[in-house]
Formats: sequence, structure tokens, C-alpha cells
Amino acid sequence: MSIHSLVYDTPGKFQETRFEKIHNLTFSSSSEASKMVAAEIASGIRNCIDRPYVLGLATGSSPIGVYQELVRLHREEGLSFKNVVTFNLDEYYPIDAKDIRSYHHFMHIHLFDHIDIPAEQIHIPKGNIPMEKVRAFCTEYEETINAYGGLDFQLLGIGRTAHIGFNEPGSHQNSVTRLITLDAITRSDAANDFNGLENVPKKAITMGVSSIMKAKRIVLLAWGHKKAQTVARTIEGEVSSKAPATFLQHHKNTTIILDEEASSELKRFRTPWLVRDCEWTDDLRKQAIVWLCKKVNKSILMLTQRDYNEYGLSDLLATMGSAYELNIWMFNQIQKTITGWPGGKPHHSDENRPERSTPAVKRSIIFSPHPDDDVISMGGTFARLIDQGHEVHVAYQTSGNIAVSDEDALRYVEVALRMEPDSKKFQALKSELLDTNKAPIDSEQLRLVKGTIRRSECLGAGRFLKLPVEQLHFLDLPFYETGTVRKNPPSQKDVDITLALFEKIKPHQIFAAGDLADPHGTHRTCLDVLFEALKQAKDESYMKDCWVWLYRGAWQEWGIHEIHMAVPMSPDQVLQKRNAILFHQSQKDKVMFQGEDQREFWVRAEERNRDTAKIYNALGMAEYQAIEAFRRYFY
Ligand code: F6R
Repeated sequence: MSIHSLVYDTPGKFQETRFEKIHNLTFSSSSEASKMVAAEIASGIRNCIDRPYVLGLATGSSPIGVYQELVRLHREEGLSFKNVVTFNLDEYYPIDAKDIRSYHHFMHIHLFDHIDIPAEQIHIPKGNIPMEKVRAFCTEYEETINAYGGLDFQLLGIGRTAHIGFNEPGSHQNSVTRLITLDAITRSDAANDFNGLENVPKKAITMGVSSIMKAKRIVLLAWGHKKAQTVARTIEGEVSSKAPATFLQHHKNTTIILDEEASSELKRFRTPWLVRDCEWTDDLRKQAIVWLCKKVNKSILMLTQRDYNEYGLSDLLATMGSAYELNIWMFNQIQKTITGWPGGKPHHSDENRPERSTPAVKRSIIFSPHPDDDVISMGGTFARLIDQGHEVHVAYQTSGNIAVSDEDALRYVEVALRMEPDSKKFQALKSELLDTNKAPIDSEQLRLVKGTIRRSECLGAGRFLKLPVEQLHFLDLPFYETGTVRKNPPSQKDVDITLALFEKIKPHQIFAAGDLADPHGTHRTCLDVLFEALKQAKDESYMKDCWVWLYRGAWQEWGIHEIHMAVPMSPDQVLQKRNAILFHQSQKDKVMFQGEDQREFWVRAEERNRDTAKIYNALGMAEYQAIEAFRRYFY
């Protein structure tokens, strides 16, 4: 049974809207969705008995969950791949198959090494053939697929350029397997895997758009906020070679599988009132009114009945009767989120405050995925909690060791060598750092040096904010310690370390990064570990009264309608926060994993907090220099 038929056979499970041109499904988690896709592939394999099942495969972060589930189905439910022939979409060029960054390596570690597929039935474009043979190789690749009768099922991811395979913008719908030049955005997205943009191959061999479109069934996966714009463009936009994934609008049997973040830019979620009749929850009301204020450029209390009617919100108006009442309700909702007392205001009523007043002194744990998210994302609130007498603890979830450059590490090793010139350990580290053929994965000792550099930066920032250093906890969660950008999946070991901290501190308040920008990124995994620990500790007496507040990481901010607590900062507090961030010298100037945003972390943080304050002000709230925003998580 395909996902397609399952959905159409289950009325009410999927609602297409007039804006959407490709069948798509949103799941609450990527793991649930991946299991569903793996089940469809498994049933295709099992039902194909008189000929080989021809499976098109993708690499990248998106299909990892599907591969994990296929491996489980093989191990636990006897799914055999002996009758399966696979064709991978693409491979970097030039690259050696043994290189750990090659797609050959990826496919073996994630799938092929764990299933019973015969090696000769695996096809992956070769990244190590001489240039003059590439064209013949591509023709043969295409012909081999055709000789098998074409692809039964093609699994796809999508790049931020809306590429499928490595068909970058400009790819023609008739394109076949060929050598292409990678787009600058694609190369920058791959920079982490290759330890810097300069090491990312400039080319790749990819199946063409037409090779993909010939597949009988196509399923495209996209997870996380980072993909949301591209997904909306693919599903709702015009077909154009500027966004090659839009060609899928012409394919008759494609489903796009999404998690909630990846589907968040579809009109049906972003502005559902423009698409269908809505059930007006408080959150949706807030979302619509913030949107309306922006559209008509007015503050909340200035909105008129006519504004609501003209912008398709008469239904919403009807829920309260009049614009006056709706505006007052909204104004109070937003006003109530503002507090200078993130740990609660002692001896005051809780009625209009986001946090409870009791106990007056709270034990708070700030969970920081990397050793600087605490100050980047909530440095102002962090300082206030300390100033207001709460017992603040910071838990640095990962060591952050891979984000320290070799140049930085060398400076410290040189200092150590000056102190201890005969130390074999420091001499070896220096040689490793100066080796022009340095391995892509640092030695364990070098990782220790890099992790220690980050620790010392946390100690500096903590002292600056007058936090006793014993209240800084370095969890060094094991899932992170691979030495590469790709991390291990989280395990109970990570959860146990977190549980031990809960037990030790017995927190009243937890702050954590609810940053969902990248599903396989460190923030997301840290959050999954925390959520699992909360689930497991839920019945402990000391967790009964613990509230959880989520901040967003360095990359994005909560929508105004999502904010439950807004902590304002004065100009001086903004400066104090900046200085705390600046203790993280290894993450300044030449940041290793900066992503698209070229601004330094302190600049991003300040601009983001200032923007939130400006929006609050535009909605009619008091004017503040900056605001840090939190959303309460109920577990
Ligand atoms: C990989 C491929 C690419 C990726 C896309 C998304 O074989 O062809 O199109 O699917 O770049 O990559 P992730 O999943 O890492 O976001």
C-alpha cells in the first residue's frame, strides 16, 4: 500500500488546498514519517516477485531515518534486499569512493553494510573516473536504469536551491545523467561536511530531471525549518527550471513528506484563514491579528472592523463580536507576556505574569546545546535570573569541540609547549596541527584541546555574569563525540546524563533551546534528549513543579503569536549580554560553522532581540531596546 493510496483512502487525513499542486503530507515527527516511507518501500519490495525491484536512492540528512527503518525491517522482520537493484542519484566529482565524505561511503554506512543486497546490484555514480570517461559513464548509467525497466520508486531530498538530485537551478526538464557544477548555496550547505567551503568539490555527477521523472513513484522528504521556503515554492509556485523540484508538479505519482517545520510556510499553515474555514484557537487568533497589524501597518488597538473584513478575517471578528473587544483581548494577551522577572516576581500576584512567584528563589537550569547558546540566546534573561537571586545552573550539553579552528588550537598548544617544551603530548599535537595532510577527523587529544578551549570560554562568561563556576555543568553528551559534523543518534546514555543532573539540582525552571532549524543538527538532538529525559523523570516528585521554557537558538526567533514570555532589556543590559558573548573568542571573526548568515553571533543576537522589541512596539506595547523571547513547553 502506498502512502498515496493510504491518504486518499482515509478521508479527512489530507486536505489539499487551491494553492497546492503536489500531493503532500505533514507528520508530527520526521521519525514517524520515515517509518511510513520505509513501510511503503518494503511493501514494494515484497510485492515484486517476478523481476527485480528498482529503487532510486538519495543521500544527505533527510533519508537517514528511512534507511534506519529499512535496516530494522531487514534485521527484525526479515525484509530481504536480494531482489533489489539500487541506483543512487548522485556523487560528488571528483571524489574517491573511500573518502568518508563520498556518497559511496554514506550509502554503505547507513544502508548497504547492514542489509543483504548483493554488491553487483548497487549502482552509484563514480566520482573517481577520469574526466574524459565521464560522459560515457553517464550514458551507460542511464541505459542501465532503462534496461531494468526504469525506477519503481525514487526517494528524494530537496536542497535549498530546490535541487533534486544535484539538478541545480537552470537544469532542463529533459536533462539526463550528467556532470554538473554545484550551486554556491549547495556548496556552502556542504561546507560543514568538508571542513570548509574551499574543500567542497565543485562538481557532481547526477541523474537528470527526466531520469527522475520517469520513476513510477516518487517520494520527496523534507525536514526542518530550513527547508520550509523551498518546500512552499515547490508545492505552490510556478513550474520553472529556476526551481527544478517544481517539475515534480508534472509527475502523476509524487508525494512530498514533511514534518511540521518544513510545511510551516505553506499557505495552509502560515495564513490558513486565506485558504479555508478556521477553528479559531487562541494561538490562531493571535497569529492572524499579528499578520493583520503588519498588513495594514497599525498597532492592535487601532485595528477597525473594516480592516478585519477587508483582509478576510470577518469570521475571526464574529468570534468576539466586535473589533473593540477582539483588540482588547489581543492587547492583553501580548501585554501579559512581558516581564522583567523571568523567575517570577516574589510577593506579587501571578495573574498577569508568565512565571509563578513561588518559590521566590528558584533553582533554574539553562540547557545550552553548544558552549555559547546560553549567552547568545538568553544572555539578558540569564543575567536577570542571577541578579534576582535565583540559583542558576548552566548545563552545556555538548563539548562543541569540532567548532574550534586548527589555528586557534595551535595557539593554545604553543602556549602549553612554551611551558613544557619536552612534553611529547604537546609536540605530537603541534605536529598533527601543522601536518599538511592532516586527517579529516582530529585525534582524541586534539578534540580534548578544542573542547577545553570552549570550556574556558564558558568559565570566563560565567565569572563575568557572577555565576559561581561550580554551577556550570559540562555534560559532554556522547552522541556528539564523533569528531565529525555528522553525529550519532542520541541514546539512553545521553538521557541518563541529563536525568542525573535533574536529580542533583531538582530544578523549578528549565530553559532550553527549542531551535528546530535543522532536524539533524545538534540543537534538535539536544532537544530530543531533553524531552526524553523529561518524559522519563515526569513522575519524580521534584519534577512535578518544574516549568520548561524554550528559547530559539542563534538562527531563528519565535513568531510573535508563539511567545509566552518576553523579557525586555535596557541598552546597558544589551551591552552586558554582548560582552558575555564576546568571551567566546573561538567563535568570533572566523566562525567555522557559520552557515548562510555572515553576521557574527553577537550581532545576530542583538539584531534579533531588537527586532522583537520593535514588533512589540509596533503592536502598541512599550518601547524597549531589546526583548528575549520564550515559549512554554508542557510535558
Ligand atoms: C543527495 C541529493 C540531494 C539532497 C539534498 C538535500 O543524494 O541528491 O538532492 O537530497 O541536497 O540534502 P539534505 O537531506 O542533507 O538536506
